Amino acid sequence: MNKPKVYIARPMPEEVEMYIRQHCEVIEKDPGKSGKEAFFAAIAEAEGLLTSGTKIDAVLLDHAPKLRVVSNHSVGYNNYDVKEMAARGVIGTHTPKVLDDTVADLIIGLMLSAARRIPELDRLVRNGGWMKGPDEPLYGWDVHHQTVGIIGMGRIGAQVAKRAKLGFDMDVLYFNRSRNEQAEAQYGATYCTMDELLTRSDFVVVMTPLTPETEKLLGKEQFAKMKKSAFFINASRGAVVDEEALVEALQTGLIRGAGLDVFTVEPLPADHPLTKLDNAVLLPHIGSATAKTRFDMAMLAAKNLVEGVYGRKPPYVVPELAHLI
Ligand code: 8YV
Repeated sequence: MNKPKVYIARPMPEEVEMYIRQHCEVIEKDPGKSGKEAFFAAIAEAEGLLTSGTKIDAVLLDHAPKLRVVSNHSVGYNNYDVKEMAARGVIGTHTPKVLDDTVADLIIGLMLSAARRIPELDRLVRNGGWMKGPDEPLYGWDVHHQTVGIIGMGRIGAQVAKRAKLGFDMDVLYFNRSRNEQAEAQYGATYCTMDELLTRSDFVVVMTPLTPETEKLLGKEQFAKMKKSAFFINASRGAVVDEEALVEALQTGLIRGAGLDVFTVEPLPADHPLTKLDNAVLLPHIGSATAKTRFDMAMLAAKNLVEGVYGRKPPYVVPELAHLI
């Protein structure tokens, strides 16, 4: 029996690619083509596509008439046009859970880095410095026993709450579409309004998916409500923030600092205003980037792909397309 044809649109660990090749015929890109022409030619016969971030819209779907499943190598799936996919019966999958702890660790790292000025003072020492002036004690600010406000108390948000409460004795506030009673019971998280969270938190952490409702959720009005001593942390998607408003808030002292792993445009341009700010910690979207976690994501994406092209229910179909199974 012929194996289902799939196209893998990102590098995969050898073991994972071997797994896919056991079950599927992997389409190779035509060396005589490049760019979009090569990609569209490769997916013309594909029944499955493994990717992360490729926009799955009407244009792509029109070039892949045999496509039945798209497997995201990511938990976020804002690249999916779920209406166009549903109209064509194309299911979309993602890779939740396997990265929760790794991303939560990174978020705590951003909080500590921003509050204790770790990258700024690392640069000082590397440049032969030790003090920034006779009266400059290089003070940072405490994380322990402060208040963290988590916007988006999903799986990753709950792991941040766990670390904040149990590891740093922090008070935990959260705002979410629905209550998370497990986080309230286990980590003492307190549900509150967005305004309460913004005005009371020493660290505002946003961990929501990017949707039409969350686009630019944090803007000038929200930053103005935050404490001037507060830090803003984002490891979700850059577009949940009005980045110009964030830059202005950081430049004018409306907020004290920020720890950012995601940006509206990635890679972040070298001349972006954020790169000029000592009170902004900037990382290249590494939230899930440990070897083990990225391997686990790749294997899960591969299993989603294989199950989908064989007409079986994949482990993690995105909720908006679950009705297609
Ligand atoms: C990166 C992520 O997308 O899982 C997500 O939604 O943002 C990260 O894991 C990474 O590129 C995964 O491929």
